[in-house]
Amino acid sequence: MSRKILVVDDEKNHRLMLKIHLQEAGYDVYEASNGIEALEVIDENHVDLILLDIKMDLMDGFTFLSHAKQKGAEGIPVIVITAYSNVKTAVKAMKLGAVDFISKPVNTDALIEYVEANLQEASSDGKATGGKQVLKDYKFDGVYSEEGLGSIIEMLKMVAPTDATVLITGESGTGKELVAKSIHDNSNRKNGPFLAVNCAALNENLIESEMFGHEKGAFTGATSLKKGKFELADKGTLFLDEVAELPVVTQAKLLRGIQEKVFERVGGEKSLKSDVRIIAATNKDLQQMVDNGDFREDLFFRLNVFPVKLPPLRERKSEIPMLVEYFIKKYSHSFNKYVKGYTRDYMDKLLKFSFPGNIRELSNLVERSIILCNSDMLEAAHLPEPDTNTAKNKSMDIKDNERMLILKALKQTDYNKTKAAEILGVSRRTLHNKIKEYELEV
Ligand SMILES: Nc1ncnc2c1ncn2[C@@H]1O[C@H](COP(=O)(O)OP(=O)(O)OP(=O)(O)O)[C@@H](O)[C@H]1O
Ligand SMILES: [Mg+2]
Repeated sequence: MSRKILVVDDEKNHRLMLKIHLQEAGYDVYEASNGIEALEVIDENHVDLILLDIKMDLMDGFTFLSHAKQKGAEGIPVIVITAYSNVKTAVKAMKLGAVDFISKPVNTDALIEYVEANLQEASSDGKATGGKQVLKDYKFDGVYSEEGLGSIIEMLKMVAPTDATVLITGESGTGKELVAKSIHDNSNRKNGPFLAVNCAALNENLIESEMFGHEKGAFTGATSLKKGKFELADKGTLFLDEVAELPVVTQAKLLRGIQEKVFERVGGEKSLKSDVRIIAATNKDLQQMVDNGDFREDLFFRLNVFPVKLPPLRERKSEIPMLVEYFIKKYSHSFNKYVKGYTRDYMDKLLKFSFPGNIRELSNLVERSIILCNSDMLEAAHLPEPDTNTAKNKSMDIKDNERMLILKALKQTDYNKTKAAEILGVSRRTLHNKIKEYELEV
């Protein structure tokens, strides 16, 4: 018996398009053009899965979800289809029991896969579950407080157990990779691989082979077959770091990989399949890049299903004491020193830093203090001088500050970029980009 899908969307053409594709894939389809009609359909019929638009005139998707829940229909998996894929939408819909997201414009092949995967999951649970469970505990390899990352952790609890693509944005050193890893560790894929591709580190030719692998003899130097990360991350998570740097040609291939879960190795004919969850990260404004024509819009939509924005450390300074204690434990252990805490002056001085390198910079500062410390307390003298201009001249724009700090670090190190990057607590690559951005090249 074919399964029954209810499509709820107020755009008639969109509904029809979905209906036709679903029917071609062998499903029976009910239609509703708003929440009220949708409630009637589930009252009178057995429905196996709902595809739900959020923004509708008569009764929107959220209202429908909460009514459906009250009616005891929470066992039906709901996939939310929306052009408004922002965190608020996502979190709200998930709280109301949605199990998955797909962003507009909908790729129909991907749609069928989403539907199939969610139907299978619902039936393998044995009973209706009413949406995937929001995790109670969240394993996170760092620290966070309610005032800082706390609200983000709430979102991560919801998104981690789904297969939704997550796009993590934030300045360098804000913890993007740590957050990506935590999503994996709290997902159903936790026993599978977590692999990272740094999209900025490689040139155009190498990145493709790194991502999708190559056949033997595909190019000079390809002496044996090599599997790419996309293939190796099967049943696990693929972390695309610095995704904004992805060359345009690779963007197209990645798009196909995400949409259809199909790819070819470089120099290969055969289409291969891989079941990967994508988490991407960038410190660039991808929307801006799309507007400027530097990043494919369709890929952006695919990646931006569940955006997570990590605030810079200067906007969550209340987390600094906790972080310092965490790093003290970490480094005193690794340097085999007994440091039990810090003086008041130490913290006062630390709070004067503006942290362009965010948590990584803080971590480096504490590490250095521990090295210098020969008592059991960290003292102000163990810290370098914070940039006094930063503290005094609040009106100064952050960019100016950043530029100045970078310049200072470069001068201090005789323009040795590796050393300067260390001082600033950023990666060499980040420093390189900043030097370009601020035209500090010598
Ligand atoms: N909440 C946290 N608690 C403890 N340590 C943290 C936290 N967030 C980040 N860190 C540490 O700070 C450092 C930088 O984090 P991470 O590499 O995840 O940043 P990033 O955003 O990926 O930076 P970049 O853009 O430069 O790659 C890491 O050593 C990480 O372990
Ligand atoms: Mg990173």
